[in-house]
Amino acid sequence: MRVLVTGGAGYIGSHTVVSLLEDGHEVEVVDNLVNGNAEAVRRAGELAGAEVPLHEVDLADAAATADLLSRIDVDAVIHFAALKAVGESTQKPLEYYANNLGTTFSLLAAMRENDVRTLVFSSSATVYGEKAPVPYVEDFEPLDSSSTYGQTKVMTERILTDVAAADPRWRIALLRYFNPVGAHPSGRIGEDPRGIPNNLVPFIAQVAVGRREKLSVFGGDYPTTDGTCERDYIHVQDVAEGHVVALDAIAAGDAAVHTWNLGSGQGTSVLEMIGSFERASGREIPHEVVARRAGDLPAFWADPTKAERELGWRTARSVDDMCRDTWNWQSQNPQGYADA
Ligand code: NAD
Ligand code: WQD
Repeated sequence: MRVLVTGGAGYIGSHTVVSLLEDGHEVEVVDNLVNGNAEAVRRAGELAGAEVPLHEVDLADAAATADLLSRIDVDAVIHFAALKAVGESTQKPLEYYANNLGTTFSLLAAMRENDVRTLVFSSSATVYGEKAPVPYVEDFEPLDSSSTYGQTKVMTERILTDVAAADPRWRIALLRYFNPVGAHPSGRIGEDPRGIPNNLVPFIAQVAVGRREKLSVFGGDYPTTDGTCERDYIHVQDVAEGHVVALDAIAAGDAAVHTWNLGSGQGTSVLEMIGSFERASGREIPHEVVARRAGDLPAFWADPTKAERELGWRTARSVDDMCRDTWNWQSQNPQGYADA
C-alpha cells in the first residue's frame, strides 16, 4: 500500500516509517516539524534503502491538508501527528484541543474527499482514566483522562467512532500505546525531546550521557513492590511493528472500528528501569527520590491478549533491550539530531 504517515518526523512515526518500508509499503510523511526533525525522516528512509518524501504542512490547516491529499495518491493513513506533553496540555488547553482535534478534522475531511477510508490512529493508555481496573482491557468504559492531552485522545476516539457509524466504509484501528521507549537498534533514529525531557527514559538517557546531573524519582511511597510507580514499557520497534500488522489487518478485513492495546502486560518500576539502564550503559545514574508528580497513577499495565488473539502480535523485546537500544542511540547522538 501507499501510506501517508502524519507526524512521521517524530519519535514513533519515524520508527514506523522504517517498519512500513521493510514490509514492502511505500511511504510519504507529512509533518510541520513542531516537534519532529527532517533528519529523522531522511535516516528512516536510509535505513530501509528508500527515499521518503516529507511534506511540511500544518495539518490543523484544513485547506493545506485538503491540497496535500489531492496531490498525493495514498491508500491509507497512519495518524501520529499531535502535541503530546501532558503537563503543558493543562497549561495550554486551547492549543492542545485546536491542534490535536484540528489535525484530525482536516485529515478526515480530506481523506473522505479523496476516497481514502483506512486509518490507524495513535491513542494512549491514558484514555483508561483513573478508574479502570489493572490490567487495562479494551472494552472498559467510560473512557476518561485527567489531562487535556488525554482528553484529546478520548475525544478523537469518539469522533472516529461516530464517523465510522455514519459511513460504514471506514476501516479504523485505534491503537492504545502504553509507555513506548527504546530506539532503532542501529542507533540512527531515536527519541530526541526538545528542552528538559518530561518522560523517564529520555531523562535517564540524558543523565547517562552527561547532559543532566541527576534524575528526580517522583515518589517513593506508592503501594508497589519498591515504592516507585510501575508502568508497562514497550519497545518502540514493537510499537512500530504493531502498526504495520494492524494496518495490514484492517485493510484485509471487513470495514469496522477496532481497538487494540499495544503493551507487554508487565509492569516495571522506576527503580527497576534505573537498574536496567545502569547495566546497559555501564554508567551510574545518580538519582534522588522526591515528592510525587501530580496526576501520576501508582501502577498500570495492559491486558495484551486482544492484539495477540486478533492480530497475532505481541511484544518481542525486553526492558533490557529497550535500555540497550536507547543507550546505543543516545551515546551515538549525545545531542540528538543536532549532532547531524
Ligand atoms: P512526537 O512529538 O515525537 O511526534 C509527533 C509529530 O507530530 C511531531 O513530529 C510533530 O512535529 C508532528 N505534529 C504535531 N502537530 C502537527 C501538525 N499540526 N501538523 C503536522 N505535524 C504535526 O511524538 P511521538 O512520541 O512520536 O507520538 C506520536 C503519537 O503517539 C502522538 O499522537 C502521541 O500522542 C501518541 N502517543 C505517544 C506516546 C508516547 O509516550 N510517546 C504514548 C501514547 C500515545
Ligand atoms: C513514567 C514513570 C513517573 C520522569 C506519559 C503520559 C502518557 C503516555 C506515555 C502519551 C512515572 C516517573 C518520570 C522523571 C520520574 N503518553 N518519572 N522522574 O507518565 O507513565 O506516561 O507518557 O500518551 O499519557 O502521561 O510516563 O515516562 O513521564 O513516567 O520518576 O523525571 O517515571 O513518575 O512513574 P507516564 P513518564
